[in-house]
Amino acid sequence: MNETASLRARAEIDLAALRANVRALRERAAGAQLMAVVKSDGYGHGAVPCARAARAAGATWLGTATPHEALALRAAGLDGRIMCWLWTPGGPWREAIEADIDVSVGGLWALREVVAAAGAAGRPARVQLKADTGLGRGGCQPADWSGLVTEALAAERAGRLKVTGLWSHFACADEPGHPSIAAQLAVYRDMVAYAEKEGVEPEVRHLANSPATLTIPEAHFDLVRTGIAMYGISPAPELGTSAELGLRPVMTLAAAVALVKDAPAGHGVSYGHHYTTPAETTLGLIPVGYADGVPRHASGSGPVLVGGKVRTVAGRVAMDQFVVDLEGDRPEAGAEAVLFGPGDRGEPTAQDWAEAAGTIAYEIVTRIGVRVPRVYVNETADELTGGVPR
Ligand SMILES: Cc1ncc(COP(=O)(O)O)c(C=O)c1O
Repeated sequence: MNETASLRARAEIDLAALRANVRALRERAAGAQLMAVVKSDGYGHGAVPCARAARAAGATWLGTATPHEALALRAAGLDGRIMCWLWTPGGPWREAIEADIDVSVGGLWALREVVAAAGAAGRPARVQLKADTGLGRGGCQPADWSGLVTEALAAERAGRLKVTGLWSHFACADEPGHPSIAAQLAVYRDMVAYAEKEGVEPEVRHLANSPATLTIPEAHFDLVRTGIAMYGISPAPELGTSAELGLRPVMTLAAAVALVKDAPAGHGVSYGHHYTTPAETTLGLIPVGYADGVPRHASGSGPVLVGGKVRTVAGRVAMDQFVVDLEGDRPEAGAEAVLFGPGDRGEPTAQDWAEAAGTIAYEIVTRIGVRVPRVYVNETADELTGGVPR
């Protein structure tokens, strides 16, 4: 029995797949650097091991949403460029500056806080100005851009910061041909041109997420920020499957069957009795539930590979468990049930669960709970120790 065989459940993370995905994405965006987006604990895969593996495969930047996520990477010994973009008043700006993290600034309140923190730290901040080119979420509106650029340049001249990047984010890159794509590209070019004309000399200009990296070469600029594709998942089924995009899913979610038992015809199954056995049958208990990230919305629809056949969640997904109708099959208790993985053993994929639950595959992997141990496979010695050559 190997050491993972006795686990109730596990999320197996294939770091060789992640490294291969990073290399494939770098080839797609040859000429641009690659930022490995490892926010939200590496989309549920584990930020630090994934960051190390991505670095080993040539990612020169790491990206997170919150400063705390970025600081955790530094604390784990990851050096090189790290950027984070989701700030709220109060920072921690000074800690980020002292940890050499590139910080995103999309408005004057943030610029003023970072300038003050740089003064307190006694060293310049590395600031990337974020433009709202049409997403309508974070970032500076075109009408406010000149004010932000002017104040940033004044702070740069005063030695408080260096503007290291000019960047933005797409709204609809996963819908090829969507008119907002060309519109955002045009606005981005204008906003970059304005800032550069005023005297900003950015090291990196960047706009592309995974779908843009895969389908919009003119959006690659100096750097692409890849999240979901690095984890081997297609950003949208319309763009192709993982295999069609040259990617391999990194996470496999599996559980040990907890119980197999006979049940008579007409037996209600799980809370609310939304499933009733149509005939005498066998039922299998799968010991993962919505607390583990199995979506309750996939009650009655989520697929799982058990005993060589894909079964469907029978009735409701509960907090810790769900049931499948095994139709007379009798796998042993302890047999492996695979909820999703790359798909080449006949198991469902995260995309299949997304469709079953009415959501996107991003949400399926990102929500896998802390109670599910991540088991890393194909990890190199350097990734284990943190001594990744770069
Ligand atoms: C600003 C930013 N850039 C890049 C990404 C990566 O997106 P994707 O996972 O589609 O590659 C995200 C994730 O949502 C993001 O918020």
